[in-house]
Amino acid sequence: MTLVNETTAAPIRLRDYRRPPWSVDTVELDVDLGIDTAEVTARLVLRRDAEQSQPLRLDGEGLELLAISLDGRALDANSYRHEDSVLEVDGAKDGSVLETRVRLKPAANTALEGLYLSGSRETGFLLTQCEAEGFRHITFFPDRPDVLARYTVTLRADRERFPVLLAGGNPNGAGELEHGRHWARFIDPHPKPSYLFALVAGRLKNIRRDYITADGRNVALVMWSEANVIDRCHYALDALERCMRWDEKAYGRNYDLDVFHVVATHDFNMGAMENKGLNIFNAKYLLADPDSSTDEEYRAVEAVVAHEYFHNWTGNRVTCRDWFQLSLKEGLTVFREQQFSADMNSPSLKRIEDVSLLRRAQFPEDAGPLAHPVRPAEYREINNFYTATVYEKGAELVRMLAGSLGPDGFRRGMDLYFERHDGQAATIEDFLSALGDANSVDLMPYLSWYGQAGTPRLHAHGEYDAARKEYTLTLSQHTRATPNQPEKTPLPIPVKLSLFDHSGNVLPLHTDGQTPETEKVVVVSKASQPIVFRHIDAPPVPSLLRGFSAPVLLEYGYAPAELALLLTHDPDGFNRWEAGQHLAFLAFDSLHAPTDNDACGAWCDALASLFHGRAIDDALLADLMTPPGEIEFADRQTEVDPAKIHAHRQELQRRLAAHIGIETLHARYHALNVGGDLKLDAGNQAKRQLKRRVLELLALVDADGAHALAAKQYESATGMTDRLAALGVLVRQRAPQAAKALAHFRERYADNPLALDKWFTVQAQVPGDAALASIRTLEIDPAFTLKNPNRARALFGTFASGNPSGFHRTDGEGYRLLTDRLAQLDALNPQIAARLATAFNGWQRLESVRREAARTALVALAQRGGLSRNLSEIIGNVLQ
Ligand code: PHE
Ligand code: ZN
Repeated sequence: MTLVNETTAAPIRLRDYRRPPWSVDTVELDVDLGIDTAEVTARLVLRRDAEQSQPLRLDGEGLELLAISLDGRALDANSYRHEDSVLEVDGAKDGSVLETRVRLKPAANTALEGLYLSGSRETGFLLTQCEAEGFRHITFFPDRPDVLARYTVTLRADRERFPVLLAGGNPNGAGELEHGRHWARFIDPHPKPSYLFALVAGRLKNIRRDYITADGRNVALVMWSEANVIDRCHYALDALERCMRWDEKAYGRNYDLDVFHVVATHDFNMGAMENKGLNIFNAKYLLADPDSSTDEEYRAVEAVVAHEYFHNWTGNRVTCRDWFQLSLKEGLTVFREQQFSADMNSPSLKRIEDVSLLRRAQFPEDAGPLAHPVRPAEYREINNFYTATVYEKGAELVRMLAGSLGPDGFRRGMDLYFERHDGQAATIEDFLSALGDANSVDLMPYLSWYGQAGTPRLHAHGEYDAARKEYTLTLSQHTRATPNQPEKTPLPIPVKLSLFDHSGNVLPLHTDGQTPETEKVVVVSKASQPIVFRHIDAPPVPSLLRGFSAPVLLEYGYAPAELALLLTHDPDGFNRWEAGQHLAFLAFDSLHAPTDNDACGAWCDALASLFHGRAIDDALLADLMTPPGEIEFADRQTEVDPAKIHAHRQELQRRLAAHIGIETLHARYHALNVGGDLKLDAGNQAKRQLKRRVLELLALVDADGAHALAAKQYESATGMTDRLAALGVLVRQRAPQAAKALAHFRERYADNPLALDKWFTVQAQVPGDAALASIRTLEIDPAFTLKNPNRARALFGTFASGNPSGFHRTDGEGYRLLTDRLAQLDALNPQIAARLATAFNGWQRLESVRREAARTALVALAQRGGLSRNLSEIIGNVLQ
C-alpha cells in the first residue's frame, strides 16, 4: 500500500554520484534588499568538466526570473527553459559568463530557508539560511556542495531601515547611494560551496573584540543581535575566544579571515549555522544571562559556539563532496566540540551527557522505521537527514577512530587530512585514508560502520577456570535487521575493559606475551571472539566498554552486586554512571517481580552510600542518582505502555528517596541551598544540580514539604536554574502553588521569548492524561504561534517527544492533536513539521490500543495529501 505521495520522484542515491558537469569559478552577487521583495543579480563564471557534455542546468526554487544573459547578450526565450526548479541554458561554453536577475519575497517566506525576515516587518531583519539547499531559493546556481566558488557580494538597501549590511568574507568597501540608500561589499577569498553563503541586513547592535591568531592574523570578532539583547552576548563572545585558542592548540588550526561575524535570530529552524565568516545562531544557543538561562543552557551556548567555529576547518575549508557525506563534517565537528567541552569542563560529566543523548535520541532512531546509516545510501529530502545518527553516532565513529590511533596518531591523521583536502569537497573514504595513511594502518574496516544502520549488540560471557587461574571472556556481536538492510556484517568494535576483584580493586591484565596493564582495548571484529586472561585468582568482575568505547548495546548478565561494586568502586566517573544505569535497569525489572527485588535494594544501597559518603562531586552524584529516562526504558520493551513506564520509573525513584530518608534529604537540601549572589563556577553549578535532584526526590516522599520548599525556592531564586527547577517540580507535580508561580513567570518574562519558551515547555511536561488539557490551553495562548520554530518545539516538540506518558494516550487524542498541527505546520514550515513528526518513531512497538490509535492518526494524515516532501518522507517511512 502506498499511502504517501505516489507522485514523489525517485530518491537520490549515493551510488548515482557524478562529478558536476558544470561548476562555477567566481560569483558576483548583487542584492537589492527590501522586506517584501528583493532582487538578486548573479554573475557566474562557468567552468565546464571536459569529460562531460550535458547542457548547463542550474537549480532554482520559487524564483521569479527577471532577466538572463550569456556572455553579455540577453537570451531570447528559445535559448533557455525555466521549469519548476530547473533553469536549462543553451550555448554555454567553458569560461562563459551567465548573468541572471531574479525577484524574491522575503517577508512571505515562512519556511525559513533562503532569504527571510526574522521578527516583525517594522523592526525585524533579513537573513539567509542556505544549508542544505537554500541557495537555490536565492539565485540560479549548481546548488551542490562540490561546486566551490569565490564570492563577491554587494548589498544595497535603505540606510534607515537596514543600517547594518553583512555578508561572509572580508569587508571590501561601503558607501552612500541616492535616495537614502547605501551599499556594502564583501569578498571571500576562500572558495566555498553555496550552502555556506550568508547575508544579514537590518537594525542590529554589536559587541566586538580583537583577536590575534596563533599565526599572527588580526581578527575582529563581532557578535550581532537586536538592541534589547546585545548585553546577553558576552558569554558567547568569551566562549568564542576560548574555542579559537583551543583549536589552535589542539589541532593547529587558525582562523582565516579578518572578521568573524556571529548573528542571533529568534527565527531559526536549527541550532546554528556555520556560514563562512558569518555564523548565524538560533538565539537560544547564543544569548545567555543568569536571569534567563539555566546552567545547562550556558554549557549549550559554549558547545554550539564551539561547534560552529570548528566547522571553519571541518566543513568549510574541507567540505563534503555530496550530502551523503554529511557526517564527514557533522560527526567530526561534534566530536571536536566534545573534546573541547571535556577540556573546558568535566570530562566524565560531558561523556555522561553525550552518551545519554545518544541513547535517548540515536538508539531509538537506529531501532525503528527511520533507521539509516551514518552515511545514508539514499534520501528524498536531505533536510530529514540532519539526524542524531549523522551527528551523534557519527561523532562516536570518529571517537573510535581517534581512540584506535591514540592522541598523537589522530593529530597526525588530522594534519594529513587538512593537508590533502584543504579547499576540497571530500568523502568519508578520504577521511579514513588520511587518518590511516598518516599512521600506516588500514582503517577501511571502519567504513562498514558508516554504511550499516542499527545499533550492534555486544554480548559478553565470562568463564572462570579456577584450576588454571584463567578467565575467558567471549565477546560476540549481532546487529538486527533495519529497513532495507536485512543482512548485517560484523563490525570492528573496540572494547575497552578492566577487571576488578570482589573488593573493588582493579586487576593487572595478563594476556599473551604482553606486560600487564590495568585497562586494555580489545577490538572485536568477528561474530564471536574469546580472550583469555591469565593469573586471575578468583572470578573477576569485568568492566566493559569503558568510556563507552563503542556505540553498542552491551549484553552481559551482571549480578546486581557486581554492578553495585562497580558503581561504588570504579575510579572513573563515567563508568560508575554506566554501572548505575545498568543496575537501574535491573532494579526497574525487579519492580515487576517482587520476589527478586535485590536489584532495587542494591541500587538504593549503593546510591545511599555514595550520597552519605560525600566523596564524589555533587554533579556526578546527581547524575548517578538519575535513572535512565522513560525513552530508554521503552527502548528495551516490545509492548510499550508509556504510562506504566512512567509510573514504574517514579516508583524506582520513590524507593531511592525513601531509602535515603526524608530527614536526610531535607538536611542535604538545606546544606546545598546556600543563597547569596549567583555564581556560575562549576562547583556552584554542581550544587544547584544536586539540589534539584534532592528536591525532586523529596517530592516523591514528602510532597507537601517539597512543594513548600519549591515555592520558596521559586520566589527567592537568584537565577534561572533554581527558578526553573522549582517551577518544574511544582508544575509536574500539580502542586497547589504551581498556578501562582506560573502566572508570575509568565508576566516576568513576557518580553523574553527564550524564557517564555520554558514556560510552555514546563507545562508541556505534565505527565499523564493531564498533559492534553494543558496543551490545548497553551496553544490558544496569545503568545503561542506555530510560525516560530522555538515556540512550536517548546510546546509540541516537548509534548510529543519529551513527555511519553502525556502524548501516548490510550484514546489517541495526543496523536490526533499532533497530526492536526503537523498538517497546519507543514503549510508554513515543512522542515519543522517533518522534525516534529519523528515523535511517531517507535509507534509499532506500542501496546496494541495505542498502536492502533497511532496508526489511524498517521494514516489519516498521510491521506490528506498535499504534504511537503519533508513530511511525506517521514510519515511514509514511519508507516512502512
Ligand atoms: N550545519 C549546521 C550545524 O550543525 C546545522 C544546520 C543544518 C543549520 C541545516 C541549518 C540548516 O552546525
Ligand atoms: Zn554542524
